[in-house]
Amino acid sequence: MTNQQHTQTSEHNDHSRGHSHSHGHGHDHHGEHGALHGGGSGGQGHPEDWDRRYAEEEWPAQPDPLLVRLVSPLPPGRAIDLGSGPGRNGVWLATAGWDVTCVDASAVGLDQARDRAARAGAPITTVEADLTSYEPEAGAFDLVVVANIHFHAEQREHLFAAAAAALAPGGHLFVVGHHVDSLGTAGPPDPERLYTEELLAGSFPTLTVEQLERTSEGDTGEHKGWQNVYLWAVRPA
Ligand SMILES: C[S@@+](CC[C@H](N)C(=O)[O-])C[C@H]1O[C@@H](n2cnc3c(N)ncnc32)[C@H](O)[C@@H]1O
Repeated sequence: MTNQQHTQTSEHNDHSRGHSHSHGHGHDHHGEHGALHGGGSGGQGHPEDWDRRYAEEEWPAQPDPLLVRLVSPLPPGRAIDLGSGPGRNGVWLATAGWDVTCVDASAVGLDQARDRAARAGAPITTVEADLTSYEPEAGAFDLVVVANIHFHAEQREHLFAAAAAALAPGGHLFVVGHHVDSLGTAGPPDPERLYTEELLAGSFPTLTVEQLERTSEGDTGEHKGWQNVYLWAVRPA
């Protein structure tokens, strides 16, 4: 697996075994895009499918209102958005003063995230990686975001363990996804990949859960009434 890291100011070593470059030095990562195939075997579709989707559709640019509410009282620090897509959450965090790394398998999504962040005057670092095996720097982040990532059980366990391990003492984890009651209307048509309160409650044994609720906050228009579940947890200091 070859990952690609794009860093605007400094090079964080996120164990990504990849290449870094600085913003403004061109986007030279497309040649290795095909190296990411894990998304098709337990992840959430092939990176090419997400690339096509992001190229064809305008993905929402507004951050998750739940994340905004939960994070706003916190002092900015280092954040990582695992499965960021075009970075609606990561870009907002960067504009709020966070030092943000966005990770995704879609090069197109990450290009859009970097472009949006640059236009907002709040550059971010991006890492092109397969989250079914990616390991972020352990103990390094004050905030970890996992939004709307619906893997099969084994890959989800890896992702959740990696997310918890990435937290610095006192750091917060935000996870949100579609509830299994949304089966057939939101998320993948596979109950194993959807979330329940029990699943999230049992997935982060090293963390203290501060909030764990079913919600449809923020859902509007065609998404109104979707059942989501979110977790807000902290790594004990
Ligand atoms: C539903 S989108 C969520 C994007 C963003 N978190 C949000 O809430 O708007 C799912 C994202 O997961 C990414 N993804 C799917 N499988 C992946 C994998 N194996 N490794 C890395 N990213 C993956 C896709 O490229 C896509 O950007």
